[in-house]
Amino acid sequence: MTVTASATSRAARILSRPITLNGLTVPNRIAMAPMTRMFSPGGVPGEDVRSYYARRAAAGVGLIVTEGTYVGHESAGNSSRVPRFHGEEQLAGWAKVAEDVHAAGGTIVPQLWHIGMVREQGQNPFPDAPAMGPSGLVTAGAEPTGKAMTQTDLDDVVAAFATAAADAERIGFDGVELHGAHGYLLDQFLWEGTNRRTDAYGGDPVARTKFAAEIVAAVRAAVSPEFPVIFRYSQWKQQDYTARLAGTPGELEAILTPLAEAGVDVFHASTRRYWLPEFDGSDLNLAGWTKKITGKQVITVGSVGLDGDFIGAFQGEGSPVKGIDNLLDRLEAEEFDMVAVGRALLQDPEWAAKVLAGRLDELAPYDAQAVKTLS
Ligand SMILES: Cc1cc2nc3c(=O)[nH]c(=O)nc-3n(C[C@H](O)[C@H](O)[C@H](O)COP(=O)(O)O)c2cc1C
Repeated sequence: MTVTASATSRAARILSRPITLNGLTVPNRIAMAPMTRMFSPGGVPGEDVRSYYARRAAAGVGLIVTEGTYVGHESAGNSSRVPRFHGEEQLAGWAKVAEDVHAAGGTIVPQLWHIGMVREQGQNPFPDAPAMGPSGLVTAGAEPTGKAMTQTDLDDVVAAFATAAADAERIGFDGVELHGAHGYLLDQFLWEGTNRRTDAYGGDPVARTKFAAEIVAAVRAAVSPEFPVIFRYSQWKQQDYTARLAGTPGELEAILTPLAEAGVDVFHASTRRYWLPEFDGSDLNLAGWTKKITGKQVITVGSVGLDGDFIGAFQGEGSPVKGIDNLLDRLEAEEFDMVAVGRALLQDPEWAAKVLAGRLDELAPYDAQAVKTLS
């Protein structure tokens, strides 16, 4: 890749500006995207997980969003190697992760996760508890195979998120991210394909947002007012990469407004390619629309620094490097406020340091082998 001197200093200038998210000052605009790694046997993040995150903080990542970590609800997950955000040993492991990231000069938030009906897919080491979701459907058009959540189930999950957020603050994290994206529990409520409820939690987009908004409000009430609450959402679903939550800006507004009013400080708009316009008639991407609609700070994500999107990574594909001029243009125009980087940071722990120093010519293509180790 050929990069001019003026382009390199521009990257450093635009990305190295600090930003304050509610009460948290992040040293620059680069976040690490949440990435499930399954290197935490028994749900306990150990020494290797600590150094994995600390290495990236030391090399210039301003904000680390951890891999999805299960909240304390019996049906939250389906892997014994995904870290849990409940239990003494698990939280002690996480406290050390936060401590190491801080010592390296970074900031860190856990991504709090309940997978809902996706629990039916893959390994399930906790067979005693059912898979549950709004209507017991794994995906649009499926027959119900799981439990449609009762009011008690809903209340229990709200409480589990609130407890996890309070624990995050207590053990030294800088904020929380709520996983409302990619077809997992919160998104199963947001998406009409999986939400067939006829009570107050189903129906139009505002009703479908009620459950997520209750979680945001409970989390907000469980932490200090200045503790940042980030909400991640997406159009795409892991059950259907082409699915859309909102077909128009108006539908998006109906979903985002109750979440913003419930206490979200920052939205994290997950897309596969940040440079694609979200709706006809405007160049704004999903993050841009989110900022325009809510007035909140927004993180963008999706193929930053890479040409091929992450779906290829799950099929063992690599990706060539792609320049970030378009990203810098959008950041400079304040279309969004921060940028999250996924695979490029798996590939190269030094990615942020290289970009911030204008050493863009040293960036390497993504090799799918990167996902196999915790280096
Ligand atoms: C190995 C892997 C694991 C992921 N796990 C999560 C996760 O736990 N939570 C989440 O919200 N997104 C997850 N994602 C999606 C990423 O956060 C990110 O949105 C996606 O990879 C696009 O960014 P990229 O093109 O920079 O890789 C994962 C992606 C990858 C490649």
